[in-house]
Formats: sequence, C-alpha cells, structure tokens
Amino acid sequence: MKTIFKNPSQIVTVDTNGKDFKSGNELSDAAILYEHSIIVENGIIKDLIPNSSLQKVNESRIIDLKDMVVLPGLVECHTHAAFAGNRAGEFLMRLQGSSYEEIAQAGGGIISTMKAVRESSFDELVKLLQPRISHFVAQGVTTLEIKSGYGLSYYDEIKLLQVINYFKTNSSICIIPTFLGAHAYPPEYKNDHSQYLELIIKEMLPYIIKNKLAEHVDAFCEKTAFSAEEVDKIFLKAKKLGYKIRLHTEQFNNIGGLEVALKHKILSVDHLEVITGKDISKLANSEITAVLLPGVSFFLDYGYAPARKLIEANCIVALSTDFNPGSSHIPNIQLIMQLAALKMKMSAEEIISSVTINAAKALDLNKQIGSIEIGKQADLAVFRVKEFQEIIYNIGVNLNRYTVKKGEIIYQQAETK
Ligand code: NIG
Ligand code: FE
Repeated sequence: MKTIFKNPSQIVTVDTNGKDFKSGNELSDAAILYEHSIIVENGIIKDLIPNSSLQKVNESRIIDLKDMVVLPGLVECHTHAAFAGNRAGEFLMRLQGSSYEEIAQAGGGIISTMKAVRESSFDELVKLLQPRISHFVAQGVTTLEIKSGYGLSYYDEIKLLQVINYFKTNSSICIIPTFLGAHAYPPEYKNDHSQYLELIIKEMLPYIIKNKLAEHVDAFCEKTAFSAEEVDKIFLKAKKLGYKIRLHTEQFNNIGGLEVALKHKILSVDHLEVITGKDISKLANSEITAVLLPGVSFFLDYGYAPARKLIEANCIVALSTDFNPGSSHIPNIQLIMQLAALKMKMSAEEIISSVTINAAKALDLNKQIGSIEIGKQADLAVFRVKEFQEIIYNIGVNLNRYTVKKGEIIYQQAETK
C-alpha cells in the first residue's frame, strides 16, 4: 500500500545530488519543489511526482497537505536530555554575576547533575526522559541523539545508557545513544585523573560497545574537563573498538581539541564558540561536521560560534539544541533555528540544511535520512505555513502539524482555524 503526501505548497527536499551532505555555499540550496507530491511505500520515499500525474497512482492512502510545507524530519544531533534534578539555583547565581566555569570549579555544574542522576533509579530516569522526547517529536524531530555523561561511574554511566536505550525500543522515533563518560572528572577521581581515564579506556568503552549500549562516543575537551592528550588516549581506544567519535571542543578555550579531532578524522566537532581562523581553514579541509549550539551562547550569554566564517570557508555546518540542565536548558530545536538566524546571521536555507542533512551527517546517518530523496527513509516534518521561512519568523510558536516517521504519522497537532 502506498501513501501519498499530497499537494503541499512546498517540499523542501534539501537534495544533495547524491553527496548526502552540504558544505559552504551548498547549504543555501534547499532544493524546493512546488506542485509535487511524495509517494511513500514500506516507509521509504518511492517517488516525488508532479501533481498533474497523481491520478495515475492507484491503491493509495492520501494525506492532503494543502497550504503546508514539508521538510525532512528534523535531526536533533546533540542533546544531554537524560538527566535528573535541575540547576535553577545556578541559573540565578549566573544572573548575579558568577560564571558557568566558576560554578563548575566550585563543584556545581555537571557534578551537581551527576549527583542527582546517581540518586535516581532507572525507572525515575525513564519517567523524566519520556516527556522530553515527546516534546521533541511534537516539534518535527524524527531522530534524536542523547548522551550519557551524568553518571561518571561504571554503574551510573551504564544505567544512563540503559535508560536511553529503553527509548530505542519504546519510542516512535530513532534514538541514538552516545557514551560521554569523559564529560567531567567525578569527585572520587578529582586528584587521580589517570585512574578515571583507565576506567573509561579499559572497562567502560569495551563493555558499552560489546553490549550494544552505544556505538557513538563523545568527550569534552576543556580546561575544566579533559585535556587534548587525555582525549587522544580515549579516541585511540575508541577507534580500535569501532566507535563513531565526536568531540565537544573550543567552547571556552583552545586547548588542542581540534587537532585531536583532525588527527582521528572524527564525525563532528561541537560548540566551536572560540575557534580560531587558522583552525577554521583546517576544519574546512576535512569531512568533519561543525555542530553549532547557539542555545549555549544565549543561555550563558556569551559569544556565538562564527557560523558565517565557517560557511564561507566551506565547512559542513549543523545546528542543535545541546539541551542540558546547565548550559542550554532549551529543549526546542525551532528556537535554535531562530537564534541561528538572529544571532549567527544564517539564512533560512542554511538553517534547514543544518538541522536535516548535515545533522544526519554528524551522526553518520546521512545516507538513510536528512533529505527528501528517492530511496531515503520517509521521515518528514509538515508545517502549517505556506513558505518555509515562516517557521523561522514565528518565534515561540510550534507550527509543526505532522511528524512522520517511516511514512507513518506519529504526531499530529490539533487543527487550528
Ligand atoms: O555541551 N560542554 C559540556 N557539556 C554540556 C554542558 C553540560 C552541563 O552543564 O550540564 C554542553 O554545554
Ligand atoms: Fe553538549
């Protein structure tokens, strides 16, 4: 049985001519189709046909999308959504002048969330994560990455990954778990970093991939977290074990993270608020995706990543919420798209490319998802607008009407007159 997604005002295909990602000025080509419909069969995009040929398609379920815009399902490629507790107190401290790094150094920050996670059971963590995932689905997200990184012990990192994996089988969208044991040094290893590194390298990394709890690994390269040399050691082992690798780097300081990322040819470098011009050129000569997180700059009130320079240098730019309790308590990909426009001067087309095909590339899923092309998975986000730019203009309003996963409507917003 076929399904026809019929007659939307625009299909923003984000077609890449078979390249499966967009770099530099390619990001500004959203490849829009007018007066076309999408034919889906067995969860896959079978065809994109002009409306004039629709009568030739038989035995079909028809979903009328008149006056709506279809985008590829949104790919949210960087979140820390699996957490417990909250950091509202720290938020207030920052408003009174303390910095994020000062709070972290004083034992708050990631460590305060770690304490809350350690005190929570599997069931409690599942209960907390469930509505957060639903909230993303309602915005048109069909693929969602979620990192561990708030357990910071063998037992608690695995518990958190099991929680995330629970939703791999019990949610309507694709959930990608990432192991972020190298997020911060836990208090018990405060004065013995090499012991914690050894725990990650010798015990956690092998157990997690062997038990299929995560095939992605991430680390945080920063003065308050892991040095470039420490990250290098983790990546060497991760590579041997077959992990897909990513890195939080150049968020507050340049301490060599980008060099390590280039050396290991990893999937993505995330943050880049303080990347230097020289490093931008190096990144542009690689196939590493630059994942920008404007929610962090907004929430912490400091400088934004140089999106224009990265795009002008021909980098592969993606966007994400970085949803977490401390540096970006913003579970809203649409707001991130709006911040990218207002604060980083990205065009509407560039923004769409960044939350679809390029975000899929950061997860190494760009051959299956991220654009509306024949043969790809039928993951779609349908918005109640006539032109896709209106999604960015309507700040604070969720205009997503349908979220479609593998050709099935998994979320439907009540109709408004
Ligand atoms: O991506 N940079 C490190 N990790 C998160 C923040 C996590 C937290 O503050 O809880 C980030 O910004
Ligand atoms: Fe992050």
